[in-house]
Amino acid sequence: MPTIVPSILASDFTRLGESVSAVQEGGAAMIHVDIMDGHFVPNFTMGPPITTALRQRFPKVKMDHHLMIEDPDTYAPIFIKAGADCVSVHYEACRNLDRTLHMIQDHGARAGVVINPATSVFLLDNVLDFVDYVLVMSVNPGFGGQKFITRSLDKVRHLVCLREERQLSFLLEIDGGVGPDNVAEVAKAGVDWVVAGSSVFGADQPAEALRTMQRLAEEAISIKV
Ligand code: DX5
Ligand code: ZN
Repeated sequence: MPTIVPSILASDFTRLGESVSAVQEGGAAMIHVDIMDGHFVPNFTMGPPITTALRQRFPKVKMDHHLMIEDPDTYAPIFIKAGADCVSVHYEACRNLDRTLHMIQDHGARAGVVINPATSVFLLDNVLDFVDYVLVMSVNPGFGGQKFITRSLDKVRHLVCLREERQLSFLLEIDGGVGPDNVAEVAKAGVDWVVAGSSVFGADQPAEALRTMQRLAEEAISIKV
């Protein structure tokens, strides 16, 4: 069943706690936290103190950390200690991807690998048997509110086939440009976690927007053609 995961990047940072409460009320058990360092991507966002504050105020919410940073080996353990449950690192940022992913798991978090729109699924061949999730970027990372890149769905379908063929258990996540207009198509491609930033927090009622997206995703996969 696809789950919508709200990305707090699009929330009002002056009211972050209220924003997280709102999506919890809308049914979110997990939030997506975008970490940017101004080097791997041309933008900055949040650091470990925000993770710590969210963990203190929301002890039960799962926190999916998407590290868009050049030095995940140094910072992944810091974010895990601060309260991250799932940590994904970019294929493009890791010199020793196998070691980095195992290090995240050894620190007690679920480890994800992320691929940019220009990175091929074939490059993940040697990590798919142990990684906890694969995040397919459907925009170039760095900013919310960008246009969905449709061919990323081919990557999702390819990964679904590989997972089936090799009887693997990694989850599939997609991130960027998903809203009420395309969430059905995204769900049908076979993703497990659908990140949604501006389509949730840009709405007047984020809880309601989240519920609508979740319903559209569930309806899409229950329709048999
Ligand atoms: C972009 C981030 C996304 C972003 C998605 O680099 O990784 O998580 O928050 O935002 P929307 O849903 O607005 O495209
Ligand atoms: Zn993200």
